[in-house]
Amino acid sequence: MKVGFYNIQGGTGKTTVAANFAYIVSQSTKTIFIDCDIYGGTSSIIFNLEDKEHNLASYLAGESVLEDIIYTYDDLSVIPSDMSSKVFAYKIDVSRLDHLLDTIEDEYDIIVYDFPPNITEDNPLLTYVGESELINKVIIVGEDSLPSIVNSLKTMELVKDLNIPTIGIIVNKYRGIVDLEDIIDDVIGVLPYDQKVERQWVESLPIAKLKTKFSKELQLLSKDIAKIYLEKDLASLRALKLAKTIYGLHEDEEEKEEEFSFNLNEKFKLE
Ligand SMILES: Nc1ncnc2c1ncn2[C@@H]1O[C@H](COP(=O)(O)OP(=O)(O)O)[C@@H](O)[C@H]1O
Ligand SMILES: [Mg+2]
Repeated sequence: MKVGFYNIQGGTGKTTVAANFAYIVSQSTKTIFIDCDIYGGTSSIIFNLEDKEHNLASYLAGESVLEDIIYTYDDLSVIPSDMSSKVFAYKIDVSRLDHLLDTIEDEYDIIVYDFPPNITEDNPLLTYVGESELINKVIIVGEDSLPSIVNSLKTMELVKDLNIPTIGIIVNKYRGIVDLEDIIDDVIGVLPYDQKVERQWVESLPIAKLKTKFSKELQLLSKDIAKIYLEKDLASLRALKLAKTIYGLHEDEEEKEEEFSFNLNEKFKLE
């Protein structure tokens, strides 16, 4: 499963959801997180990799080799972006991502991309329109506000035009503002507004490591996404075994899970 988190709008929680999703699934599945927000990436703060001179930008500029840009955070492999202004001087060649992917693809069951919000040439999501196998699923992270929902639906259309399948929209920072009934067909999950999420930047850790309302709900949602897509994507015994491992990890939470995965399973039964 190669899944990217995206929205044409910034600040909706793409990095928060992508980084924590990757962290959660890495506890049971071999996972790599790639910060593709070349100029504005912030995931390095969450994974305590802010000062790394070897990163995605230096690799895409031909200044670093692949082995040097892959770090580990607990069980998760991470390719960070450059947090320094040095990145503006690099001559980035996004097509080098092909080689990167070719080399790592067989090693990981889940590859998670955190995309920048813009729609310029340097956005790997848009550069790899259709013909590339860089990615096979996009999840749109939108905020609970009318303008953001408009942008999320617009983003869905854009991604569909690129011939990349979307899993759907995660409505993040939910405070009961938008009537989800109106967009329910596109929504795969809802994550609460939770001030404690800010602690990830201050304490330099994935918020999923702390017991918060947000973490609990993202745990359940991540499990559902991984389970459904590993089963769907990789029709092999190995995938099934992995899916079962993820499933088994949270068996005691089965009842609670049903509440949260309100329309996710229904949705895929229908398709
Ligand atoms: N569920 C949430 N509740 C409260 N704040 C959140 C939530 N999700 C994200 N945030 C905050 O919103 C801001 C933007 O999040 P970020 O993940 O950087 O978004 P993006 O990658 O889309 O720009 C950050 O300060 C982050 O801590
Ligand atoms: Mg971001």
